[in-house]
Amino acid sequence: MTYEMQGPMGARTVINGRLVDYFAGCGYLGLQNHPAVRQTAVDALTTYGLANSGGFGSNHPIYHQLEAAACAYFGTEKMLYFASGYLGNAILAQGLRPRYERIFIDEAAHYSVWDGARTAGKPLYAYRHLDARHAAALCQKELQAGERPLLMTDGVFPVSGEIAPLPDLAAAIRPFNGLLCVDDAHATGVLGENGRGTLEHFGLHDDRCYTCHTFSKALGAYGGFIVGGAALIDELAAHANVQEGASRPPLPAAAAATAALTLLHGDDSLRRQLRANVAQARAGLRALGWALPDTPVPVICLEQRSGLDLARLQADLFDQGVLVAHSTHYTSVPAGGALRIAIFATHTEEQIARLVAALEAAIARETAAG
Ligand SMILES: Cc1ncc(COP(=O)(O)O)c(C=O)c1O
Repeated sequence: MTYEMQGPMGARTVINGRLVDYFAGCGYLGLQNHPAVRQTAVDALTTYGLANSGGFGSNHPIYHQLEAAACAYFGTEKMLYFASGYLGNAILAQGLRPRYERIFIDEAAHYSVWDGARTAGKPLYAYRHLDARHAAALCQKELQAGERPLLMTDGVFPVSGEIAPLPDLAAAIRPFNGLLCVDDAHATGVLGENGRGTLEHFGLHDDRCYTCHTFSKALGAYGGFIVGGAALIDELAAHANVQEGASRPPLPAAAAATAALTLLHGDDSLRRQLRANVAQARAGLRALGWALPDTPVPVICLEQRSGLDLARLQADLFDQGVLVAHSTHYTSVPAGGALRIAIFATHTEEQIARLVAALEAAIARETAAG
């Protein structure tokens, strides 16, 4: 069965001609269809058109406004804004190249972490998923005297919803004078007191830790970005080919991103609502028999259990007007696959209760049939 989204992205949308409760994708704060975000994009399109064509167009007031909004949100000085979040890892791996000799990656890291690391042309080693002790042991084994590691990981894993143990990973590479790079695609706007991501979640203030972000998920717009002090951003820009060599996202996308950050800066109501929704969903789904950790991550991973056919459960849920993803082949999918449930700030309490009730009914039918 294929599922085609025919309405705007949202907590309720039209899929295959039916209005359903939507618990998939990555629009965690529900901003993709927020009136202010949409209108800002429309205004930019009307005034300036779609794209800047590179050249001096890359130096456009729309991008300056975005940089100002991002620096205010993250409390930093400068920003790089680039074609897609996918490129962020390559920019970090290339941009920091003079400061490390070997790269160590979580074996379950996102495709973009692996692809980005490969572009740096340095030796690569995979450490066991989430295992900081193994990362430390690998560093010990592989680094020659005086060599420094670059450790790369997702902050939040896209399907499993696990949070990387950043304090332990940072501690693992500290004796080797290493650097830690975090792809925070699924944490930006969500984790941490101010929604700045996984480092903030852990209260980790370490000037050897770097993060790349995307606007395409919680922040409701499009494009990848890295924020930091002027020296860091200038260093990355000087050494990273992809930063120079790819066009910036279209102007309406940049304008939408500015609107999203402006909405969120100083107003944590969406994030608080998201946390409450995540807690409700985790409690309800836990009662159906899954051992779910108590985290604020809006990705809930229901692993394969004996006696359940996840594809059938997904189809049964859709018959009941609820769409969740059945993940079988993405990065961080557990063995046997999983139902990936994405919670949004814009889901209502009733919708989450309906999701849990629908799943309970589907499981009862599965159990009766099998
Ligand atoms: C962990 C991770 N990093 C990067 C990306 C890519 O981000 P973007 O969609 O902005 O290219 C994704 C998107 O799915 C992701 O899950």
